[in-house]
Amino acid sequence: MAKLDGKVALVTGGASGIGLACAQRLAKEGATVTLSDIDTALGEAAVAGIVRDGGKAIFLSHDVADEANWISVIAEIRSRFGRLDILVNNAGIAIAGPITDLSLADWRRQMGINLDGVFLGTKHGLPLMRAGGGGSLINIASTVALSGSGNMPSYAATKGGVRAFTKSIALQCAAQKDGVRVNAIFPGIIDTPVYGKFEGAPQHGPGGVNTKHITRDPEALAAKVVPIGVPGAPEDIAAGVLYLASDESRYVTGAELVVAGGLA
Ligand SMILES: NC(=O)c1ccc[n+]([C@@H]2O[C@H](COP(=O)([O-])OP(=O)(O)OC[C@H]3O[C@@H](n4cnc5c(N)ncnc54)[C@H](O)[C@@H]3O)[C@@H](O)[C@H]2O)c1
Repeated sequence: MAKLDGKVALVTGGASGIGLACAQRLAKEGATVTLSDIDTALGEAAVAGIVRDGGKAIFLSHDVADEANWISVIAEIRSRFGRLDILVNNAGIAIAGPITDLSLADWRRQMGINLDGVFLGTKHGLPLMRAGGGGSLINIASTVALSGSGNMPSYAATKGGVRAFTKSIALQCAAQKDGVRVNAIFPGIIDTPVYGKFEGAPQHGPGGVNTKHITRDPEALAAKVVPIGVPGAPEDIAAGVLYLASDESRYVTGAELVVAGGLA
């Protein structure tokens, strides 16, 4: 029997990188996966690949910063599957550059996707998880939540927020004895398409390892800043997500799983 047979999962930002690897792994372990993303073409192709490999998956178009979108995504999962056991809040963007150059609109956009998205997913996902007797909520943070980032301060602020929020919701769920476990994963340098998408100009200057070694090449970056010298693969994060999603982690809540080759 696969580890997640009978479970229903939602992975946000599932069309690319870490989210895609998580959706693929959860489906491989027997979960019925809803993969959501703003990129419809990539998301539909990802789902077609999972189904081709024998997995159960659907795609829903979804902007995680939009509350109305969340309400309809959760309603669709409720009506199709009747439950939600695993929610991976993964969707994210990264805006770089000196803080004095950052517009308030970009700050809010960074917050909207990375932090409002996690809040909205929790607010609207928890009731369905609770109705089914519990589940596993997994938030994708970043090692910059632990180290800071001179290169991407607004991004680091969102991930620091995700860190504190995750622990706080773990406590709320524990107090309610609702059977929902809430944990965060902190990836380090993971080789995904995000490195080609950074917005803003990375800056040199004081502020930590990320600032001194800026590159859009994760291999070169990892060679300089990761203790074991290489970037991780999206599948390394998916393995952590599988552990936290499965009953093998039934006593784990409020935990911070750093998957970063020794970084942070
Ligand atoms: N790659 C790394 O080194 C690394 C390190 C630490 C943390 N992370 C975090 O991991 C998560 C996934 O990153 P990735 O590296 O796989 O990036 P990625 O760019 O490959 O994938 C991100 C996905 O999120 C989607 N997305 C963006 N905005 C969205 C929105 N508003 N609503 C829904 N979907 C949206 C994108 O379309 C994309 O498919 C992010 O939260 C990121 O901050 C990544």
